[in-house]
Amino acid sequence: RMSFFVAIQVTRIIPEEGPALDDLKVSTVPAPVCGSSSIEVRVKAAGTNFYDVLMLQGKYQHKPPLPFIPGSEFSGIVSKVGKNVLNSGFNVGDHVLGSSLVGAYAEIIVTSPAQLSHMPKGMTFEEASMFRSASCTSWAGMVVRAKVQPGEFVLVHAAAGGVGLTAVQIAKSLGAIVIGTVGSDRKAAIVREAGADYVINYTTNKHFAPKIKEITKGRGADVIYDPVGGDVFDESTRCIAWNGRIIILGFTSGRIPSMKMNRVLLKGCSIMGLFYGRYGMEEPHIHQQAQAGTERLFLEGKLKPFIYKTYALEDLGKALLAIASRETIGKAVISLDQKPASKL
Ligand SMILES: NC(=O)c1ccc[n+]([C@@H]2O[C@H](COP(=O)([O-])OP(=O)(O)OC[C@H]3O[C@@H](n4cnc5c(N)ncnc54)[C@H](OP(=O)(O)O)[C@@H]3O)[C@@H](O)[C@H]2O)c1
Repeated sequence: RMSFFVAIQVTRIIPEEGPALDDLKVSTVPAPVCGSSSIEVRVKAAGTNFYDVLMLQGKYQHKPPLPFIPGSEFSGIVSKVGKNVLNSGFNVGDHVLGSSLVGAYAEIIVTSPAQLSHMPKGMTFEEASMFRSASCTSWAGMVVRAKVQPGEFVLVHAAAGGVGLTAVQIAKSLGAIVIGTVGSDRKAAIVREAGADYVINYTTNKHFAPKIKEITKGRGADVIYDPVGGDVFDESTRCIAWNGRIIILGFTSGRIPSMKMNRVLLKGCSIMGLFYGRYGMEEPHIHQQAQAGTERLFLEGKLKPFIYKTYALEDLGKALLAIASRETIGKAVISLDQKPASKL
C-alpha cells in the first residue's frame, strides 16, 4: 500500500519577474521508500537559503529534474532506519539535523546517515534546521580558505544575511577585527550584536573603499568575504590589503564581476572561490572539521543562530520572497508545526 505525505513540489521553473514565488503550493505526494541503507526523518523544520530562490528560477549550478521538492537543510526526528544502517549511530526517535540537495520542504525526507548529525545540546529544531549550511560555509571560508589570523581586518559583505552573520561571528572568534556591510540601516544593529566592530551601509556609501582605508589606517582589509559580487566586488578590489584574500561565495547582486589580472599582481592579493557543497565529495574530512568546529562555537555561545521569522510550509513562497527582496535578517525558517498565516 502506497503512503503519502505533504510537500512543496515544484513542477515548473519559476519566472524571475512577478510574484510567482508567492504561488508555491503544497501538495500530497507519494512517500519515498526508505531503502535498506537509508534513514527516514520526520521533518520538524527546514532552513531557507538564497540558493533555493536561484534553484527555483533555474539559475543555480544544480538543476534537479522536474518535478522536485526543494529545500536543502532540515531538522527532525528519525522515524525509520534501514536494515544495513542499524549500526550507523542513528536510532528511531533521535533528534537530528541534515543536509540534502533537495527534498527538505516536506513532512518526511529519506536520506543517508552521512547527511545527518545529532542535534547539539540546547539547540531548538528551528535553529538546527538553519545552522549547518551557513555556519559550515563560513567556517570553511574563514578557517580553511582565508586562514584568518588574530588582529587581521575582515570585511564581511551582506553581513546581516544568513551566511553573513555566521561569518561575522566566526571571524570574531578567530580574533579578527570585523567590518560588516549592510544594504539598509535597519540591519546594522544585528550585525553589531553579532560582534562586528564597524558597520557600513553600502547602499548609501557605494564607494566604501576610502572608509575601509580609514578604519584600517591605510592598510585595507586582509580578508574580504563576498556573497554579493557586482559593484560591491569592484569596490572591494580598491581596498584589499597586501597579501589580502578575497573569498568569492556568490552573486546575490545578480552580476558576476571580473578583475584585471594586473590589479591582482599589483595588490599581491588572492581571489579564492568557496563552494562548500563540494567539500563533502572532495575532502569529507574538511566537512567533518567544519561541523565539529561550528558545533563547538555554538556550545561556547560564540556562534548564535539568528532566526528572522518562522513560516508554515504553506508559506514557503513568502519566506523566499522575503529573501529575494532583501527583507530578511539572518535566516527565515519553515516550521512544520506552524499554521499558515492565512489560517491564523
Ligand atoms: N559558496 C558557497 O558554498 C555558499 C554556501 C551558502 C551560501 N552561499 C551564497 O551566499 C550568499 C548568501 O546566502 P544566504 O542564504 O545567507 O542569503 P542572505 O545573505 O540571507 O540574503 C542575501 C543578501 O544579499 C544582499 N544583497 C545584495 N544585493 C542584493 C540583490 N540585488 N538582491 C538580493 N539580495 C541582495 C542582501 O543584503 P543587504 O540588503 O544587506 O545588501 C540580502 O539580504 C548567496 O549568494 C548564496 O548563494 C554560498
